Amino acid sequence: MKATKWWQNTAVYQIYPKSFNDTTGSGTGDLRGITEKLDYLKDLGAGALWLTPVYPSPMVDNGYDISDYTGINPQFGTLADMEELIAEAKKRDMRIVMDLVYNHSSDQHPWFIESKSSRNNAKSGWYIWRDAKEGGSAPTNWRGIFGGSAWTYCAERDQYYLHTFAEAQPDLNWENPEVRAALFAAANFWLDKGVGGFRIDAITYIKKPAVFEDGTPDAADGMVSVHTMTANTPGILDFLHEFRREVFDGHDIFTVGEANGVSVAELPDWVGENGVFSMLFEFAHVLVPYEDGECWSKMVPWKLTKLKGALSASQAGVAKEGWYPIYFENHDRARSVNYFFPKGGDARLAAKALATILMTLRGTPFIYEGEELGMTNVKWDTIDAYDDISSHGQYELALKEGFSPAEALSFVHFNSRDNARTPMQWNDTANAGFTTGTPWLPANENYHTINAAAEEADADSVLNYYKQIIRLRKTNPVLLNGVYEELLAENEQIYAFSRTEGNRRIVTAVNFSAEEAQLPAGFLRGVRLIGSYADAPKAALRPLEAVVYEEE
Ligand code: GLC
Repeated sequence: MKATKWWQNTAVYQIYPKSFNDTTGSGTGDLRGITEKLDYLKDLGAGALWLTPVYPSPMVDNGYDISDYTGINPQFGTLADMEELIAEAKKRDMRIVMDLVYNHSSDQHPWFIESKSSRNNAKSGWYIWRDAKEGGSAPTNWRGIFGGSAWTYCAERDQYYLHTFAEAQPDLNWENPEVRAALFAAANFWLDKGVGGFRIDAITYIKKPAVFEDGTPDAADGMVSVHTMTANTPGILDFLHEFRREVFDGHDIFTVGEANGVSVAELPDWVGENGVFSMLFEFAHVLVPYEDGECWSKMVPWKLTKLKGALSASQAGVAKEGWYPIYFENHDRARSVNYFFPKGGDARLAAKALATILMTLRGTPFIYEGEELGMTNVKWDTIDAYDDISSHGQYELALKEGFSPAEALSFVHFNSRDNARTPMQWNDTANAGFTTGTPWLPANENYHTINAAAEEADADSVLNYYKQIIRLRKTNPVLLNGVYEELLAENEQIYAFSRTEGNRRIVTAVNFSAEEAQLPAGFLRGVRLIGSYADAPKAALRPLEAVVYEEE
């Protein structure tokens, strides 16, 4: 067996710096706020901290619109604060992982400002410029991922530029070698500062098709998602192998690509010895509420077997070669207890159920801030209360599809990315202890009961369950290497699987339903390593019960 890499046997904790911990009273979190909480994160068991973008940015998409790839947004602090964070983390044997947003920059980046100024400036070819269709309309009928056309007209050039996401996020032209060199240099700048890895944003969109054509409309607006037309275009791996050679090779870091559009069958080209990244975020299991794509107004009822099938397929995809990040939450998703348990039920048990799966599947677990507390969704009364740019785009699209404002708002309640972006709930003082000022997004009102301080003191809390199960995950070699096998595959209440290595076998069983779920006789044998109820189950799993057994 190949030697284990440090990032395979750790837990990664994702921080949304804007919402994590504010030390200045500004209402937004900052880097010093993260440094202040390193002991909390160490105690939890995190070995790497992925920060969503902290670079200078107009913050149209909360930092995913970067205007300087080698600086720090003054809102978050200074480069010296970042150096201090990296050093303090290192002292505790934790690494800092940065987010590289290389499909697009901000429209306020000096590169774009120059590029749009004329058709013949030095950066003229750094973005994706096209002439209008005859008659002056956009070059194609592609819809950006946040809604509206993926093209914006620029009078200075009398041309349109492509933006896979918001208008303020023009796509960079990776075909241009100068662009690639500039991006690679910026990543190397951070490696020199000692970062432990990178999460690479929206990477499946960097290669565009050779010919830009209209697609068959997929919604009432007459447009087709840019995702359908450009994700994972052949040739993309050439760019990525160059990226690997120029930046990642030779460093003891990990890389995790955000790869919406890469199927399980393609994983070996992307991860592993001959791939380009250490790991890849796959989307199938978080897209179970949708038939196709992720249009919030087009959700479908789903059964547990769909979720189980998606997780098993990705486990199989990297069974021989490659490695997989396990996640249920991030800054783009609603809170997992609401998302995967839409019928409600005991939220604590639901959070522990997901934690149990997260920590016992094969792969590196990624925990999103507040997930370890069992934080939940918010439900605001008007669309104007939402900050998230995609919530507004999806709301408009739902209205166009003929839904009422109330229905459109219900899609936002269920899906909005703001659900995950409310302030981290530290304690039950004002604003959940996140800020002494006015928070940029209001804290979820349930912070009086769901918060880190209260959960530290409560042996039965979600937080203490996380601490225990992370320890179990990190100290049990079967959970690291053991072969995955799904059990009870047809069962619509229980997700169960085994992990086997040599003569050791560990079984996880989780009841997703709010009713008792019968187990086959003798299904759970041996020692209960952990469970979400105080005592062991008998013939059935109790509502939302999760258990892990090791056979003897
Ligand atoms: C990724 C990020 C998301 C961002 C988008 C555009 O999907 O995770 O937050 O809005 O890319 O950069």
